[in-house]
Amino acid sequence: MFEHWFTGSIKKLDLNMTKVISFISRKGGSGKTTNAINLATSLNKIGYSVLLVETDTNYTLISSRKLELFKRKEKEDIYFPIMASEDHRIGEEINQLKEQNKFDVIIVDSAGKTTDKGIRELCLESNMVIITTSLTQNDLLVTYQTVKDLLPAKELNKDLKLCILPNRIHSHTRMKTVKEVLKNLEADVIDTYVPQRKVYTSPSTIKAEKRYLPVANQIVKKLK
Ligand SMILES: Nc1ncnc2c1ncn2[C@@H]1O[C@H](COP(=O)(O)OP(=O)(O)OP(=O)(O)O)[C@@H](O)[C@H]1O
Ligand SMILES: [Mg+2]
Repeated sequence: MFEHWFTGSIKKLDLNMTKVISFISRKGGSGKTTNAINLATSLNKIGYSVLLVETDTNYTLISSRKLELFKRKEKEDIYFPIMASEDHRIGEEINQLKEQNKFDVIIVDSAGKTTDKGIRELCLESNMVIITTSLTQNDLLVTYQTVKDLLPAKELNKDLKLCILPNRIHSHTRMKTVKEVLKNLEADVIDTYVPQRKVYTSPSTIKAEKRYLPVANQIVKKLK
């Protein structure tokens, strides 16, 4: 009940120009794709015009959308667009899209195997890079390394915000504990976390999960 009331109060903020949010992590399976989809559907639901870009040549997102349309027996894709790109052209493509200023937010789901060059180009074009991580020792070590690798990009792109999104957290964990664990990282921690939940394991590319709306709201707040 409370959750419902809370999500209903989320308002769209004026972002002025196209903002680019990229999910990057050196660790495979940390939740980039899961959160990119949930963020895209949530921001779309709040009223932002969204473009979702995948650099994974498995085309996971485009295939998921096609499958959903098929299941819904819908011939035309009338929902927010999903586009494929690749490491060697992502920088240029995002740059052109930003100039067109057609979307409020462009969300990039980068592949786990993205090259250093791809990561660098993406960082230069992004307003925010989100690193998803759980609190396991192994994930924290890789996250620490990812932040270290990405920090120099902030010198070249003064707009860049480096953020940590705690993901797959036990739902009884207190935010204070999460922050304590992540406090030594030289990056902003988003003021909420994404719990380990079954609803997040097969997200829709069309319909927003209402429990994710407060997370999307916190991410946009950091973007402003
Ligand atoms: N908050 C969550 N709750 C439950 N399951 C999750 C959550 N986040 C991620 N998962 C599950 O963890 C697995 C890996 O997630 P995901 O595919 O999003 O990671 P990824 O970082 O995109 O991986 P890759 O680097 O291979 O692209 C998936 O099976 C997904 O369903
Ligand atoms: Mg992925």
